[in-house]
Amino acid sequence: MSDDPTFKPGLEGVVAAETELSSVDGQKGELIIAGFPLEELAANARFEEVCYLLWHGELPDQPTLKTFRTTMASYRELPAATFSLLAEAAKHGASPMDALRMATGTFDLDVAGESDMVKAKAITARVPPAIATYWRLLNDREVIPPRHDLSRSSNYLYMLTGEVPGPETVRGLETYLNTVSDHGLNASTFAARVIIATESDMVSAVTGAIGALKGPLHGGAPGPALDMVFEIGSADRAETFIREKLDRGERLMGFGHRVYKVRDPRADVLARAAERMYRAEGDMALYELAKHVEATAIRLLDECKPGRNLRTNVEFYTALLLHGIGLDTPIFTPTFAMGRVAGWIGHCFEQQRNGRLIRPESAYIGQKGRQWVPIEQR
Ligand code: COA
Repeated sequence: MSDDPTFKPGLEGVVAAETELSSVDGQKGELIIAGFPLEELAANARFEEVCYLLWHGELPDQPTLKTFRTTMASYRELPAATFSLLAEAAKHGASPMDALRMATGTFDLDVAGESDMVKAKAITARVPPAIATYWRLLNDREVIPPRHDLSRSSNYLYMLTGEVPGPETVRGLETYLNTVSDHGLNASTFAARVIIATESDMVSAVTGAIGALKGPLHGGAPGPALDMVFEIGSADRAETFIREKLDRGERLMGFGHRVYKVRDPRADVLARAAERMYRAEGDMALYELAKHVEATAIRLLDECKPGRNLRTNVEFYTALLLHGIGLDTPIFTPTFAMGRVAGWIGHCFEQQRNGRLIRPESAYIGQKGRQWVPIEQR
């Protein structure tokens, strides 16, 4: 047993890693990614720049970025086995997150003997084509092969729709992906670090992380958050709807956070990006309704859960932004994975450099001294 055997449910407040990748200050509502304030990085960087930053610790210069993007784009084709697996998953109607989890396990088939950096690029490059391919298969639509001349985000939307998206839409998606690229020792990142810390491999770590991200308490919330806005439908129904939900003891998706006790700074960045998109080419009425639902939810959460400081989290505006970009709700969480994969891999590299096997202890609360009873006497 350790010197401090106190059990911390959910490991709350326990520091289990040192990282240079991101700093989350839950009291100030501040997120720093590799030294940059989120607000600055998210709205300006291309996603590939953020990958490079998280994996190498520095921003790339122009030639470096060009080579990095080209190399990554060269892995966009899915291995044949990945495609067959996705086709089989579609026949069974698997959820997009389950399909992505299965597909990810095959992403390194053709690069098995290569370095971890090659695997990192292949995995990161293949997440969007796998989601887009699966979504089209599931909806009985012809699969669109990737294009190598487009950015990773642009190619994703192209593979989903067959149309090359406009710059405003791509900027919206890139801002989202950058915003969710890393976030301290969240559950999926912790899962990735636990796996890689055993000297297992990148694909296993990312596959495990996807499993952790799937749950509604982590990455599965944006779909339900948007459903709530649609169900409410008009501003005058918001108060009754939300009050009834809270009276039934239900949680409001898109609100509350384990670490942030003030407004999640990612919500602000995404709210601004969503407003920009909706003003440029979207349904402003939906945006206004969401703002009203948010304000009502916060007021009622303060009333029903006093002292809990439950505020808007990243998922609420994720939902609005991704809907505005034209994505269907079932692929919101896979799209989250498309951004967070940069952080998972950055943490794997960091864990490989500095880490130690992660092996906490448990406090045994079961019985002792029981006596074995042979099966025929039970
Ligand atoms: N709606 C209503 N009540 C909520 C709530 C929400 N979204 N989030 C927390 N609460 C309440 C809990 O019911 C609990 O109340 P109680 O003390 O009266 O029982 C209290 O606030 C503390 O909740 P707890 O589960 O201990 O907080 P946590 O730190 O473990 O939870 C989340 C963090 C994110 C899991 C939680 O806020 C949640 O479930 N949010 C909704 C899902 C979501 O948006 N997830 C995405 C996260 S980025």
